[in-house]
Amino acid sequence: MTDAPLDAPAAASVELETLISLAKRRGFVFPSAEIYGGFASTYDYGPLGVEMKRNIRDSWWRGMVQERTDIVGIEAAMITNPKVWQASGHVDSFADPLVDCLVCQARVRADLIVDNVCPACDAVGQFTEERQFNLLFRTFVGPVQDDASVAYLRPETAQGMFVNFELVQQSTRRRLPFGIAQIGKSFRNEITTGHFTFRMLEFEQMEMEYFCDPADSMEWHEYWKQERLRWYESLGVRPERLRLRDHTSEELSHYSRGTSDVEYLYPWGWGELEGIAHRGDFDLSAHAQASGKSLTYFDQERGEHIVPHVVEPAAGVDRIMLTLLVDAYDEEVDARGEKRVLLRLAPEVAPTTVAVLPLSRNERLVPTARRVWERLRPHFRTQYDDSQSIGRRYRRQDEVGTPLCVTVDFETLDDDAVTIRERDTMSQIRVPLDGVVEALRERIEALRPVVREAGNA
Ligand code: GAP
Repeated sequence: MTDAPLDAPAAASVELETLISLAKRRGFVFPSAEIYGGFASTYDYGPLGVEMKRNIRDSWWRGMVQERTDIVGIEAAMITNPKVWQASGHVDSFADPLVDCLVCQARVRADLIVDNVCPACDAVGQFTEERQFNLLFRTFVGPVQDDASVAYLRPETAQGMFVNFELVQQSTRRRLPFGIAQIGKSFRNEITTGHFTFRMLEFEQMEMEYFCDPADSMEWHEYWKQERLRWYESLGVRPERLRLRDHTSEELSHYSRGTSDVEYLYPWGWGELEGIAHRGDFDLSAHAQASGKSLTYFDQERGEHIVPHVVEPAAGVDRIMLTLLVDAYDEEVDARGEKRVLLRLAPEVAPTTVAVLPLSRNERLVPTARRVWERLRPHFRTQYDDSQSIGRRYRRQDEVGTPLCVTVDFETLDDDAVTIRERDTMSQIRVPLDGVVEALRERIEALRPVVREAGNA
């Protein structure tokens, strides 16, 4: 039974176990160090997984940095001066409330307990006193392990942008508003894990700090909320399973004046996909005070120094990839009553865009198909497959989300033409080899999800 209203959107219906099994079988995501029994909430990406992650990163970087005139990129160190994390508030405030279940000893986040029921054993109201648990991973730099050598693995990439604010602004002579973007690994000693790659100890973030005049900051916050929602739609995520949700005052992070999450309707309910925070002047002011450096911007028109405000869209690559897989998963029954599993991934993020398949391993077909593959490799992300029957190979490509297959058959030897087969409709057309690159490009373009017009700030 569900208490959702009748017109509520349907949550993604794939069982997580089904997706985890597909991801492992087909080389998207493996349990980390599986031969040793794995490691809690830690995953390795296989050959298709790395391709898909790279496509997600590339799409974000293109849209956020390369196609814009107001944002530049950086790459900061993951282990840096620990004073950064003292000033940012993470050493003192980056903590989750933790309780232990007195019945089963499960350690759970107090803020995620519903109706005072233990999520591990269903015992009611049997918890220890709440205590704060800091999520920072500590390590030591140098040969001596004492308080003076403590350093932290970064829990977010954002601070790299704040501590480099002045150097970036001066080296690029930027004027407000401008943004600094970064993609890289972050680390958190999470208490609550589960839901596959949704919450991990080690994950990759894509964050952008947009520095603006305080007077315009609310407008920019609204602008970035809409922009980020649009980006997910441009990757083909079903709009009815996306929403923006404002944080309540109790939920706000220590640095935030207002945060709105892009949420997705996962099989287990709505969950955060990305946070878009209005960080005010919290970070620049905190680092200015702690470092003794003035982190201000000289406004030439007004003839005064101001501390810019910051709007931050902060996304996670792993969580986006999980969301895209969940959203794209589909099952159909074909005319012969056989089940077809497919990932309806947008071509932009699919690990492979074109698979080249000879009809069989016939000695005349294989060299021709390999020549076609050679021709396509510089233009698309390709795969070649000649094992098992053509029907099974189509199904394998459907299951990993390949939008287009090119088939080389005996007619190809006579007419120099190939068949292009589409994943979603299974429709087939014949095209001359001479024009195959253009024909594939056209089809990829036609499969691009339609998105709303850009918003204005
Ligand atoms: N700088 C702000 C910040 O880090 P956040 O909401 O804690 O904000 C941003 O993180 C995004 O990073 C999240 O929306 C999520 O996509 C991703 N993320 C955060 N913690 C994660 C974890 N433990 N595992 C996987 N992704 C995570």
